[in-house]
Amino acid sequence: MPPCSPWYKLLILTTGSTEATGECINLALTRTSSEFDNRLVAESTLTHQDLRTPLLRRSFRKPYPVAVRGEGVYVWDADGKRYLDFSGSAAVNFIGHGVREIADAMLEQARQLEFVHTSQFTTPVAEEFAAELLHFAGEHFRGGAVYFTCGGSESIETALKLARQYQVEIGQPKRYQVVSRNQSYHGSTLGALSVSGNRKRREIYLPMVREFAHVGIPYCYRCDFDCTDGCRNCGQQYAAELERAIEATKGEAAAFIFEPMSGATLGAVPPPPGYLQSIAEICGRHRVLLIADEVMTGMGRTGRNFAVDHWQVAPDILVTAKGLSSGYAPLGAAIVSKRVVDAIATGSGAFLHGFTYNAHPVSVAVGRAVLGRVQSLDLVGAADSNIVGTAGSALKTALESLRDLDVVGDVRGLGLLWGVEFVRDKKTKQPFPPERNFVGLVGQAALLRGLLVYPMQGCVDGVAGDHLLIAPPAVITAEQIGDSVDQLRAAIIESA
Ligand SMILES: Cc1ncc(COP(=O)(O)O)c(C=O)c1O
Repeated sequence: MPPCSPWYKLLILTTGSTEATGECINLALTRTSSEFDNRLVAESTLTHQDLRTPLLRRSFRKPYPVAVRGEGVYVWDADGKRYLDFSGSAAVNFIGHGVREIADAMLEQARQLEFVHTSQFTTPVAEEFAAELLHFAGEHFRGGAVYFTCGGSESIETALKLARQYQVEIGQPKRYQVVSRNQSYHGSTLGALSVSGNRKRREIYLPMVREFAHVGIPYCYRCDFDCTDGCRNCGQQYAAELERAIEATKGEAAAFIFEPMSGATLGAVPPPPGYLQSIAEICGRHRVLLIADEVMTGMGRTGRNFAVDHWQVAPDILVTAKGLSSGYAPLGAAIVSKRVVDAIATGSGAFLHGFTYNAHPVSVAVGRAVLGRVQSLDLVGAADSNIVGTAGSALKTALESLRDLDVVGDVRGLGLLWGVEFVRDKKTKQPFPPERNFVGLVGQAALLRGLLVYPMQGCVDGVAGDHLLIAPPAVITAEQIGDSVDQLRAAIIESA
């Protein structure tokens, strides 16, 4: 289908995905839905499907390609079309698709023992993987413990409850509030949503969630403090805001939760210098637990085992998922420091929490095999964007080259996690009107060119602001990065 055909424009306008929910925000349909459906059947391999099927998909308005196979950095659809996975799905895949040894590990575990309930048994595979993961998380977690779940949101719920129980165990039952940041994303369950700051994803559920204080989040491209010292000062201003918020709880704050590098909502924004160290110091002084949400940034994605390692910050609880299994099985983890584990072990003696599928043997077998591969191929090293010759540095250089485009306002990130922010006016940084869904257009244009990216809106104020997240598997080559950025450039130009 020629990219400039009217049909193509219609498809774009009606399918622009804006964020991880994949939901359309711009429904510029002028036809009736039945007319539209007929055209879908007639026109494109992408759209040879009903929009309503027995599967409750993320959107009823957009057609989805049907994925059938993956290998390395590529995914194929049922029509044989190949896509380069330039966003690791949603910053999930780190080791590449279709790795046989991971499938073998799954099969072996499923044959040996598919499941037992954690109230009745522990398993060798869960015990061994917990020990390996603690080691991977570093010295600070020595003597700690790992709680395995089925993903990011469950792990965040686990961390919130751990923080509360810790405070009760040490004789601080008044402490229950969890302070978090605006423009953050911690998951879709109601507890995780309550500490998230992503306006669009929270809006309709607000009557159902418990609200605690949200504080400002450093965003150097649009710094509130208009500072000129590389945001050193503004980092301290934001840290001071956190301290004021903790003080305002009058001794009721149990924890502070943050993404060391802002993931989905802001689009791969690294923290300003000194900021994370200051918030860690403030939380320590106020006896507020520090929960680092590394669901997206953990397991090597930023070129360190965990992103907090860039800034030598030691959280009390570290949450991870996505890269933990690279998507081969549902898996998340709360990695818990000794201090928190000790409080429960020597206190009441039981963590009041549980999921049927926590520490699922097949999932943890996958996690073990994935970690083994990450280490044997040194994929954390490959992700390091500060070392010349790595995939991380090739990605950084290639994406930086997009800055010459009129609509590219900012390119930021670290390792293999990058954000490209689009603006209508580069000088004033004015965003596109949200209803234009500019990033959705870019995402669809890229998709049609066989390139998967992760488009989102709302980085400016929760509604306006268009950005793409780029997070390829660490096995991507410099050549594949170059080709992908060429395609992305063409998709951006086509959409502008
Ligand atoms: C930082 C962060 N926390 C939590 C989550 C929720 O994870 P999940 O979708 O696996 O529940 C996400 C998902 O994108 C995330 O990026």
